[in-house]
Amino acid sequence: MTHKPIRKAIFPVAGLGTRFLPATKAVPKELLPVVDRPLIQYAVDEALEAGIEQMIFITGRGKGAIEDYFDIAFEAEATQRERGKDLSALEGTRLAPGHAIFIRQQEPLGLGHAIWCARDIVGDEPFAILLPDEFMRGGKDNGCMKQMVAAYQQVGGNMVCALEVPIEETPSYGVIDPGTRDGPLTQVRGLVEKPAPGTAPSNLILPGRYILQPEVMKILETQEKGAGGEIQLTDAMAAMIGAQPFHGLTFDGRRFDCGSKAGYIEANFALALEREELRDQIRAFAQAELARG
Ligand code: UTP
Repeated sequence: MTHKPIRKAIFPVAGLGTRFLPATKAVPKELLPVVDRPLIQYAVDEALEAGIEQMIFITGRGKGAIEDYFDIAFEAEATQRERGKDLSALEGTRLAPGHAIFIRQQEPLGLGHAIWCARDIVGDEPFAILLPDEFMRGGKDNGCMKQMVAAYQQVGGNMVCALEVPIEETPSYGVIDPGTRDGPLTQVRGLVEKPAPGTAPSNLILPGRYILQPEVMKILETQEKGAGGEIQLTDAMAAMIGAQPFHGLTFDGRRFDCGSKAGYIEANFALALEREELRDQIRAFAQAELARG
């Protein structure tokens, strides 16, 4: 059976990024760099690699720099060109005309509300969601979303990335109530947002990658506030279970929670070690630093 292709991705970037204050007072969290590329660029690259064409950014006040980032930096580019400098570092920052769409979420009412703001652009197509502060490093040669799109082409319906974490971390996340497992695919029987300690149905959490059917927008339309007084995407997804196939995919790769300081530092460290021009210096520094105690 063929399933409708995934052509559109939503990047919710309207959150306040309070855990990174004061860094995020004037700079959006999504533009913080991991080595030399902003978080949002890695997420967009992941979507492009998965064959997604249209990028929909849900922004808010103070996030205008993201719009500039995906535009042409005319002065900088002209100057670099005149000086005969290489511009390849800017590749991927210029999306095809019409393929970058910016929508304002006037108030940060929650992730579910942010997604609902894109309902008219999404229309009646399935779509992807990527939370850019969740940095997914694909194993071998495929990124997380590419792996999800490949699995979606087999089973259709709704698909979330599923990640195992220590059980004590589950109260911070959306958590899967798992059904049968088939290799990396787990049937989703239920979903709970931020379960109270000791009540999580599993240690499989939702780390911020989704492929959803457009019906979720109708559910979000009338959605009540959930955990934390926010309109929760997890609650709307839970309402679709049973009506449509719903799977979690355990992806091959590593995840860094760049919404947290420790995860952000770990991502920088891991990526620096992947880079040939940085590896030796960073490794020697880390060893010397650890030896200092
Ligand atoms: P977070 O819970 O990480 O919130 O949102 P945050 O505001 O970005 O960061 P902290 O916790 O204050 O440090 C998860 C994702 O949902 C988006 C955020 O931008 C982030 O990508 N989001 C959240 C919205 O776009 N709108 C909202 O109303 C809430």
